[in-house]
Amino acid sequence: MKTTFSIIKADVGGWPGHASVHPDLKKIANKSLLEARRSNILKDFHITACGDDLELIMTHTNGVDAKEVHSLAWDTFCEATEKARELGLYGAGQDLLCDAFSGNVKGMGPGVAEMEFTERKSEPIVAFMMDKTEPGAFNLPIFKIFADPFNTAGLIIDPSIHDGFVFEVWDILEHKNVMLNSPEEMYDLLALIGAKSRFVIKRVFPKKTSKLPANEPVSVISTEKLYQIAGEYVGKDDPAGIVRAQSGLPALGELLEGFSLGHLVSGWMRGSHNGPLMPVSVEQAKCTRFDGPPRVIALGFQVHEGELTEPVDLFNDPAFDSVRVNAQHITDYMRRHGPFEPHRLPMADMEYTTLPKVMKKLGTRFKKVE
Ligand code: F6R
Ligand code: MG
Ligand code: MG
Repeated sequence: MKTTFSIIKADVGGWPGHASVHPDLKKIANKSLLEARRSNILKDFHITACGDDLELIMTHTNGVDAKEVHSLAWDTFCEATEKARELGLYGAGQDLLCDAFSGNVKGMGPGVAEMEFTERKSEPIVAFMMDKTEPGAFNLPIFKIFADPFNTAGLIIDPSIHDGFVFEVWDILEHKNVMLNSPEEMYDLLALIGAKSRFVIKRVFPKKTSKLPANEPVSVISTEKLYQIAGEYVGKDDPAGIVRAQSGLPALGELLEGFSLGHLVSGWMRGSHNGPLMPVSVEQAKCTRFDGPPRVIALGFQVHEGELTEPVDLFNDPAFDSVRVNAQHITDYMRRHGPFEPHRLPMADMEYTTLPKVMKKLGTRFKKVE
């Protein structure tokens, strides 16, 4: 049986500022998806939030880009926006960039990560959701999980993943993609994905030698870029990703290990700063200090015939305390740089923030230096 696992997310209003999602918005989403499950559009669902992003985690059998699922998500976000307006929440409807729904939420503001696959006898799957960062924040952990033997012991000692994986990388400026084999083309892969604001990992596939179907992804990341849709900085591209685990894939613990660095990502405060990505529990997924620091949550499910078990809040664990403390030290250190790079993003990336408006004012005062 083929199951589709979809995460569709949007910031439809913050509480307060851009910190978190008001419980009333989650209630609306819950009600809307419950009705969709009753009418068999969905097999199952779970609602959560990471920072100011409302996250709809859904399973169904409609495949990716299904109109009924995308319109369900769109309508749910519109309804939640109405509530956000009623409550006076901050930036109500922020990520809904179009008035009329066109059949697919892609290019309309919300972020989408979805994949269709043949369920194994037992199917462990993790939904990763981030706030105050961008899709390229997934490059490092996804690379580590599927390509780095120092992270994933299975790449060395488990014959079923010893051959490695295939990475689909998108050039989000040129709108092109390329498939790269790891380990054979690992250096080419790193040459691209190290430039994380431009090249992003979209999907990972098993090799042809795997017992898993080579055309079914084992991981997918949302890659929507809001500034490209809106033409200017309107909010952030806080991404979500899905990763399947175990038997023929990296183990659950190898997935989580990919997030143990508190690596530097961009998108913090006004989408204009670099900071450490801190893995936290759902409870702690509210952005506070300097509107951050950027956060990631991980919900682990077993999927069975399209149905989800209750999720396990995987970073809600003292094993990640040291990563969090380290992220706090990095936060202190980065913050001391104030408006200086590399805390603030380089000029090329600032092009998509509100800085150009300030720079414009100085335009005519620049005189040629002989
Ligand atoms: C939102 C974000 C925040 C805002 C900042 C200013 O995701 O990253 O850091 O950019 O709070 O928000 P405005 O311009 O709405 O006052
Ligand atoms: Mg917001
Ligand atoms: Mg957000």
